[in-house]
Amino acid sequence: MALPQKAYIAAVIGILLLISGTVFWWYQASTPANEAGFGAAMVQVKLPEELSALAKRGEGLFHQNCASCHGINGAGQDGVAPPLIHRIYEPSHHSDLSFQRAMTLGVRAHHWPFGNMPPVAGLSQADTVPIIAYIRTIQRKNGID
Ligand code: HEC
Repeated sequence: MALPQKAYIAAVIGILLLISGTVFWWYQASTPANEAGFGAAMVQVKLPEELSALAKRGEGLFHQNCASCHGINGAGQDGVAPPLIHRIYEPSHHSDLSFQRAMTLGVRAHHWPFGNMPPVAGLSQADTVPIIAYIRTIQRKNGID
């Protein structure tokens, strides 16, 4: 009696291994290695050759205050925050004032599934000017104006 029972258990284990192996393989195969995962840039951003002095200052402020969510150069981060170099944020749809309001007051999630943007702590009204200049410069370089 002992032997068939062992054989039965071995068969069950074998089948379970086969199923989990297949599922694992299927998961790997259906997830391309280079697929944008959590935190990956969401758009490709072309950078201008030069930045004005104002935009240059904005670049520094952007990297200090915004890039942790909106990604390097505003390219977005999958699962975190949207790209600002995006048609949605062109000046006629999101004016400089709406950018200013976003930075100082925060934003309720409405375009994306990433949750709310909190007000950016420690940012003065004056800081918003170079940041906007920087984002608009990159937007223009990417045909968003
Ligand atoms: C803690 C993460 C986080 C930080 C830091 C952050 N943002 Fe955001 N931001 C978000 C998210 C998430 C949204 C998307 C809200 C939505 O669904 O529309 C957003 C939206 C925006 C919008 C769109 C506003 C609107 O009216 O729809 C602007 C502009 C913006 N952010 C600019 C900035 C700038 C500039 C900074 C830096 C000074 C910054 N954000 C810092 C998370 C962040």
